[in-house]
Amino acid sequence: MKLHHIIEAQQFDRATLAELFEASRQMEEIVRKGGVADYPNRIMAALFYEPSTRTRFSFEAAMHRLGGRVVTTENATEFSSVSKGETLEDTIRILNGYADLIVIRHFEVGAAQRAAAVSRAPIINAGDGVGQHPTQALLDLYTIQQEIGTIDGLRIAMVGDLAQGRTVRSLAYLLGKFKDVKIYFVAPSILRMKDDILDYLRDHGVACKEEDDLEKVIPEVNVVYQTRVQKERFGDRIADYEKCRGLYIITPATLRRLRRDAIIMHPLPRVGEIAMEVDQDPRAAYFRQAQNGLYVRMALLRMVLGAPERHEG
Ligand code: CP
Repeated sequence: MKLHHIIEAQQFDRATLAELFEASRQMEEIVRKGGVADYPNRIMAALFYEPSTRTRFSFEAAMHRLGGRVVTTENATEFSSVSKGETLEDTIRILNGYADLIVIRHFEVGAAQRAAAVSRAPIINAGDGVGQHPTQALLDLYTIQQEIGTIDGLRIAMVGDLAQGRTVRSLAYLLGKFKDVKIYFVAPSILRMKDDILDYLRDHGVACKEEDDLEKVIPEVNVVYQTRVQKERFGDRIADYEKCRGLYIITPATLRRLRRDAIIMHPLPRVGEIAMEVDQDPRAAYFRQAQNGLYVRMALLRMVLGAPERHEG
């Protein structure tokens, strides 16, 4: 199993996913033991132009747990020489001289692909605007596998900001590789899933249904994948944001209509779309999902870095 750059979810086939998930389970065991010292001479650069808690910290923790080292900048637009007018391409060329792989989050669709075009070092896309977030989708799929036991036959509701949500786009691409999957896209019309994803899923035999009423869908699904309406992506369309926020909230009343073996997921952060009282229910899987991000990202780092280094003694 070896990929160089990780830019989009479509790069992963089922065999690679199975190997990645097996490696992720091994990483859980490694973390329980405190970590390993496999990559003492490897450096990961984390270059983040957009805010992050889970993705940046879990990638950095993953590299540390594998015994590697990290150089990092958050808010790269302000804290790197981009603020002086340096291009993304020149920034990547320079980091190639300092680091063995580069994890990048950027506000523009296609930025990770642009970085990969000039980079010898592997580039990992940690989110490119409203484009994709492939490593989030991988940890989402791993969570479904761990929690439900299978992905074939899945019934999933993706809820909320589907037009601007990069996590749901990447997850939809991955689900297109499995059998007998049905996806309910639950959103108001201005946030509906884009046609490129709907066309891709139909071409890959995935049953899709667009809905605007979450209540209709709740009893039908194994997974509710809730998302935040992303205020920062509306720009000056404040009225549109106000129309959409708060439309779909998971509450204890929602749980009463949800199957006993179903789960609630969310890429997080949440800002009110899952009530805090839901957290106590064993079906609330979103904090376990975030924890899985560490294991899956460790497995991904191993995949791009290759076999662990050999040490003397
Ligand atoms: N899910 C996710 O990408 O979270 P962060 O924005 O905190 O990294």
